[in-house]
Amino acid sequence: MRTAIAMTKTFCGRAATLPLLLALAGLAPLAQAQPAPAAEPLVPVFAPDPALLADFGGVEGVRKLSSLFVDNMRADPRIGHYFEKTKLSELKKQLGDQLCQVLAGPCVYEGDTMKASHADLKISKADSLAQVEVLQATMDSLGIPFGSQNRLLARLAPMYRQIITR
Ligand code: HEM
Repeated sequence: MRTAIAMTKTFCGRAATLPLLLALAGLAPLAQAQPAPAAEPLVPVFAPDPALLADFGGVEGVRKLSSLFVDNMRADPRIGHYFEKTKLSELKKQLGDQLCQVLAGPCVYEGDTMKASHADLKISKADSLAQVEVLQATMDSLGIPFGSQNRLLARLAPMYRQIITR
């Protein structure tokens, strides 16, 4: 009788651990077979193109563009309200780094992801179109060639997926 009780206990113990072991054995290879996807870069990566960067006036020219662009967005009646509480000097710095990096210049953008920094803003497609117009007008005012303007816009275009939330 004692042996029977001991056997039941042992069996029950095994019965409890067996599914766990089987699950672990089954899950371990699964975990190895599906490594976490590589994190998306903060800024899309492009090959260096000194002629393109030169059309923007080099790094200094890009910083000037960023500064004027932020002022023009703030002054625009369609989208200016978005920047009411923004520290504009900080935005100019971050945007300058980012645009410089998008143009494959020697800068490193260290701000938030586009998704995180625009998440609470409820930006619409119309807002984005207005912003593109402001950027084009700003680039025109700085004499940046039309073809190079379009190359920058094409590089920025995929980012709107993370920015437009309504
Ligand atoms: C491809 C298009 C865009 C790019 C590349 C871009 C880039 C950026 C960057 C780099 C920042 C700073 C993030 C940080 O400091 O961590 C920022 C913030 C901001 N962006 Fe954009 N942006 C885009 C579109 C827009 C649009 C369409 C609007 C509104 C019309 C907008 C409104 C803002 C505002 C208000 C902030 C500051 C948020 C705050 O005060 O924290 N952005 N953006």
